[in-house]
Amino acid sequence: MTQHETHHDPTSIRICVIGAGYVGLTAGACLAHLGHTVVCTDQSVLRVQELQRGTLRIVEDGLPDIVERMVALGRLRFSADNVESVGDADFVFLCLPTPQSEDGSADLSHVLDVAREIGPHLRPDAIVVDKSTVPVGTSTLVLDALGRLDVMVAANPEFLAEGTAVRDFLHPDRVVVGSDQPGAAERVGSLYKALDTHLITTDAASAETIKYASNAYLAVRLSFVNSMAGVCEAAGADIAAVMDGVGSDHRIGRAFLTPGPGWGGSCFPKDTSALLHTSYARGFDFTLLRSATDYNREHQRWMVSKVLATLGDEVEGAVVAMWGLAFKAGTDDLRDSPAIEIARQLTERGCVVRAFDPAVRHHVPGVTVCTSYVEACRGARTLVIATEWPEFIGADLGAAGRVMQDRALVDLRNLLHPDTAAAHGFRYEGVGRARSGVADRNVQVAG
Ligand code: UGA
Repeated sequence: MTQHETHHDPTSIRICVIGAGYVGLTAGACLAHLGHTVVCTDQSVLRVQELQRGTLRIVEDGLPDIVERMVALGRLRFSADNVESVGDADFVFLCLPTPQSEDGSADLSHVLDVAREIGPHLRPDAIVVDKSTVPVGTSTLVLDALGRLDVMVAANPEFLAEGTAVRDFLHPDRVVVGSDQPGAAERVGSLYKALDTHLITTDAASAETIKYASNAYLAVRLSFVNSMAGVCEAAGADIAAVMDGVGSDHRIGRAFLTPGPGWGGSCFPKDTSALLHTSYARGFDFTLLRSATDYNREHQRWMVSKVLATLGDEVEGAVVAMWGLAFKAGTDDLRDSPAIEIARQLTERGCVVRAFDPAVRHHVPGVTVCTSYVEACRGARTLVIATEWPEFIGADLGAAGRVMQDRALVDLRNLLHPDTAAAHGFRYEGVGRARSGVADRNVQVAG
């Protein structure tokens, strides 16, 4: 047990977390770990029953363990009843989905519906905390929807990355809390005092904007890196060496400078789109961000052209093996996964895609999901590495190559050493690596 867990204080702060998805469940379990008493609710009775039985649908490192420990300590429980659960809560965290609407904006209906539902049942002085990623002005809308003058609202955006969410929660770079109501941000900030972290308190709009700005900055940065991979191929330079040099500048830093198949996931595409939409609606055309999102699509087309180049004139019916389907390693999340988009474009061109992902066992439309990485290679002419799962680094390339019809390898994560691939008879193509072919951007047939 850690220092936060040694004793259960019956007078501890009571928190209700609404939404037991990946953000809500992580936040709920971690807030319990910090010593608070938490009830986590979800509208899905089935999900609540599963959680009560100790079954988690989410693949998230360390989460099952912390949930189990907090439940055992009596600090975490689950309920499908929002109204009953908020009744004695000092803080109510909204961890609800804000999906992308058809026009690109964030759909706030889940957040506002719940605010209307719980408003009349909150205790006086309760603070409703928005953890969902929400556009500027949402705090005010939530306060209106609550319909109460004796409660407060604060924005406390999460910076959890899938796969490292528990670590990110418990070891944050910063905690951001914003509110326009006096004292609310400080009270929410005090929930995190056991973390001994950098607390940034702001007005509500600034806190809401920090979240979008962080994700937009990282997305722009990755589009820059992926574009630099193109420059490196054209210049005969190596992207990893270049980024080691660039990232050594303390003003830049080395993180988030690895090229890949394009950025994806449940956050960057949705949040960049929402920020573009909000900015435009308020009279600012964020052309830099627009270019970064446009380039991301172009980059994925370039990745497809790298694969097609290995197939020459015989694309129709060609079997392509794909290692990895998730948008990144450490998760089973396929939302806006570049692997899925690349597989779709290959299928559209007549290829047959056989895939293996250690975290994905279910049916994926348009793709044959295989039970092993060797099985995915059966009959394939080209192997594509789309997700950076560590197990692919030590994969038996000899065994994979033996069941393939031809040995081309397109490594969209620069995961393998080109010499290792060559030693097993593979023609290797990476992203921005010194050995990668310059001409392939325009779909040339590689050797
Ligand atoms: C992202 C942010 O990193 C979190 O801080 C934020 O809280 C979260 O969104 C959110 O808004 O909820 P996540 O979507 O889990 O987290 O994924 P990231 O680890 O940021 O990766 C995003 C994409 O960038 C992935 O497609 C990944 O493969 C790609 N990436 C990342 C690269 O191509 N290169 C890199 O060097 C890093």
